[in-house]
Amino acid sequence: MKLTLLALAATALALPAAEAPVQCPGTFKAIDASAFIHALTPGWNLGNTLDAVPDEGSWNNPPVVPTVLDDIKKAGFKSVRLPITWTTKIGPAPDYTVDAKWLDRVAAVTDMATSRGFYVVLNVHHDSWQWFDFTAGGADVKAIEDKFRALWTQIGQKLACAGPEVAFEPINEPKGTTKEHADILNRMNGVFLEAIAAAGGHNVQRVVTLVGLGEDGPKTSQWFKVPPGIKNPWALQYHYYSPYDFIFGAWGKTVWGSAEDKAALEADIAAVRGNFTNVPLVIGEWSAGATVEPGARWRYFDAFSQAAKKYDTATILWDNGDDFLDRAARTIRDPTGKEVYFNAARGVRNALPDGTTDPKATTQTSSAFVFHKLGQPVKESTITFELNGNTVKSVTGPDGALVAPRDYAVRGSGVAFTPAFLGKYFATTGPAGVRANLTVSFSAGADVRVQLVQWDVPVLGAKSSQAVSGADLHIPVTWKGLPKIAAVKARFSDQSYLADDWTKYLGPLQQGYVTYNNHWNWDGKSVILTKGAVDAVTSKKMAATFTFEFFPRQPGNSVEYTLTA
Ligand SMILES: *[C@@H]1O[C@H](CO)[C@@H](O)[C@H](O)[C@H]1NC(C)=O
Ligand SMILES: *[C@@H]1O[C@H](CO)[C@@H](O)[C@H](O)[C@H]1NC(C)=O
Repeated sequence: MKLTLLALAATALALPAAEAPVQCPGTFKAIDASAFIHALTPGWNLGNTLDAVPDEGSWNNPPVVPTVLDDIKKAGFKSVRLPITWTTKIGPAPDYTVDAKWLDRVAAVTDMATSRGFYVVLNVHHDSWQWFDFTAGGADVKAIEDKFRALWTQIGQKLACAGPEVAFEPINEPKGTTKEHADILNRMNGVFLEAIAAAGGHNVQRVVTLVGLGEDGPKTSQWFKVPPGIKNPWALQYHYYSPYDFIFGAWGKTVWGSAEDKAALEADIAAVRGNFTNVPLVIGEWSAGATVEPGARWRYFDAFSQAAKKYDTATILWDNGDDFLDRAARTIRDPTGKEVYFNAARGVRNALPDGTTDPKATTQTSSAFVFHKLGQPVKESTITFELNGNTVKSVTGPDGALVAPRDYAVRGSGVAFTPAFLGKYFATTGPAGVRANLTVSFSAGADVRVQLVQWDVPVLGAKSSQAVSGADLHIPVTWKGLPKIAAVKARFSDQSYLADDWTKYLGPLQQGYVTYNNHWNWDGKSVILTKGAVDAVTSKKMAATFTFEFFPRQPGNSVEYTLTA
């Protein structure tokens, strides 16, 4: 009898126990939101990993292993944002029970980061365009709110006792365009706070980075409202990928860095600060990926990082796994980009390679390269830098330090390489490709990597084919220089543009050009017309000619391919 009573009592207690606030052993040294935000830069996103759909490992990265975080630590990053998608791990209404194994995995990766001394921002990620999309036709906002509350209750319980270096972000880039959407999202920020508070532990003392619509600056500035009665130390998070054409390889835009470009970038970051003068701010995602011309990318990284510092805004670099850390090789793919970011964030002025910044130019240059065209004599070649108060200290190549004046001469802001030095890598005839990498070091700031490229026009394996809708078309290519596409122009046989007719108002290297990924891509063996381009031809039932352009962007460095309908 007694036993039975005890058993019943235990059962009765066990059920509500899961709902009761978590009690944590030990103490919690609360960090205020400003101190937390000031500890984040430079930060790194563990992108396309725990946020992959349907599972960690489903996209371009295998499940994360501790050495990835060792490498990021060694590289000098201070914080890690953990984007996490929960969609496929959430059970049905009304309990919305989250898969316990997934909660364990998230807690384990969080520990992996905090045990290495990182500050962590953890979130609910691609759920934003799945079940959380309250802008979708017929969306049941009440059901979304219940699910969101249940999800954050369970995350809040699981991580209730995590240390003060772990912050929560309610939702990544929530969809929406109107004041009504913003009202819903503002309420959801409050639901998130209530859920983590009810979960208990240290959650009410934990830093949160709240969000506005799209997690973009203008919409956040326009509509974000502080949740009433908020107790948590809080910051605002937004994301920055602008200008779109440059960042995403659209419409032939391969240059960046004019005075207007820099002013526009600074104005965007200043505007968010102007709207939230007393709020700690973090740009939780920003980048210009591996497809962007490196000289332009470094100018962008420098200007971005400087502007963020000027407006007291923390920054966390987006890395999809293909852009920065090579997780398999355990190397940083773009060490110059990393150093430019870090130095600018510390207030150190970087020297940066010059390059074309005028989008209306008809030919483009970049001092991230010394290009030599096959068939031409090897001559002296000069690259120039925007020194920003620095001087050139040394140049290093595959055989060690270069010797002046035998190998090179510094003239003003230029470095001139002698024909004798270049002749070690370049010749009138010979192999094409990246022949060597040089490192130019300055009195301060990032070292700049310069690639010596011997080139000719790449050759395609075919000139035309019939469009077959529904799939990408891989066209074999023999690369003869930098093995990548700079831009692609696309016209139907009646000379109309395949897409984006308005590009006729842009410069000559952008008129009629189409967009990376939407229309084109490449790999080691082929140039690729993606499904979007192929389907444009089959649906219009008209042949189109694609002009693939390469670096250096100068007249003649292109090949044509025709898709017949
Ligand atoms: C607030 O943000 C809006 C939208 O980006 C911008 O137009 C405005 O100038 C900003 N206000 C201040 C004071 O910076
Ligand atoms: C030069 O550097 C690039 C980028 O890091 C690398 O892919 C390439 O293999 C290097 N080439 C040579 C010849 O060292």
